[in-house]
Amino acid sequence: MKYPKTQYAKAIQDQDRVSSPFLIKYSAVATGKTGKPYMNVILTDKTGDIEARIFDNVPKYNAQAVKDTFVQVEGNAQSFNSRIQIHIKDLIILREDEVSSEEFLPPSFLNAERIYTELKAIVASMQDPHYRALMESIFVDDAEIVSKFKKAPAAKSMHHAYPVGLLEHVVSIAKMLDFLATHYSPYLNRDLLLVGGFMHDLAKIWELQYEKVTDYTTEGRLIGHLVMGVELIEKKAAMIEGFPNEKKLLAKHMVLAHHGKLEYGSPKEPACIEALVVHMIDDLDSKVNAMRVFIENDTQTGMWTLLNKQFSRYFYKPEWSRKV
Ligand SMILES: [Fe+2]
Ligand SMILES: [Fe+2]
Repeated sequence: MKYPKTQYAKAIQDQDRVSSPFLIKYSAVATGKTGKPYMNVILTDKTGDIEARIFDNVPKYNAQAVKDTFVQVEGNAQSFNSRIQIHIKDLIILREDEVSSEEFLPPSFLNAERIYTELKAIVASMQDPHYRALMESIFVDDAEIVSKFKKAPAAKSMHHAYPVGLLEHVVSIAKMLDFLATHYSPYLNRDLLLVGGFMHDLAKIWELQYEKVTDYTTEGRLIGHLVMGVELIEKKAAMIEGFPNEKKLLAKHMVLAHHGKLEYGSPKEPACIEALVVHMIDDLDSKVNAMRVFIENDTQTGMWTLLNKQFSRYFYKPEWSRKV
């Protein structure tokens, strides 16, 4: 490899000299107090992100430091507001074949095959023949969907924003729904709940692109995962002989209502108990994950994390998360 990875984002310390390739996750020009332009850059590799600044030759580097570009970074690390920042002195744009790309993707620490096996067992336990056939046609028989579903993150940021995050999120939800179906028995339809849990975010496999840096696709921006999920149900149900119209409408409603409110992007608010339960469990699972990951990645040494902008608050750090 022409440009071997020698330094990792998470291991860089104050005063380190930096000379290593990174992937640019974000870059923007800002203006300093004196009116002089500088660049805000976020560099990433498989260990995480690190902030960087470019103070000199901004017009030159503005054209080079473009999102999703591999670059060889030369500079120095400095502590600023208790965060480490790299002051970039020089950048060289690298071709993809000059770096080993696996050094720049977050590791798939989740075992996709194991979680997928759990998902298949839950699908097989469904009693309603139509709902089970619909889920099998998507999660077992459709090789393209299965392959994407084993890799996709559940979001660009916010929650489960790492490879296999979508599968982890969906199976976590399905297990809670299974428990709640018994807990609220006989008032909940377990199979309809599971259809909601499995389908609610599935179209994120097309809404997002996640080969290098996760971002929205054109389809995702123009249509979005709720409507794309409904289109998939329409297509797959049409291929199952005698699929009852009412069940199809309910399955679609589970997807359309899962954001809970119109202002959160749901065109319909939950109109049946199952849709309400899926919405609330989805919200619970995404927030628990977002909070856990933020606390885990926090670099502060004390009892409190840095400010979390998504929640607009500081989190108390439990024993397991404190750095020594
Ligand atoms: Fe969603
Ligand atoms: Fe979700």
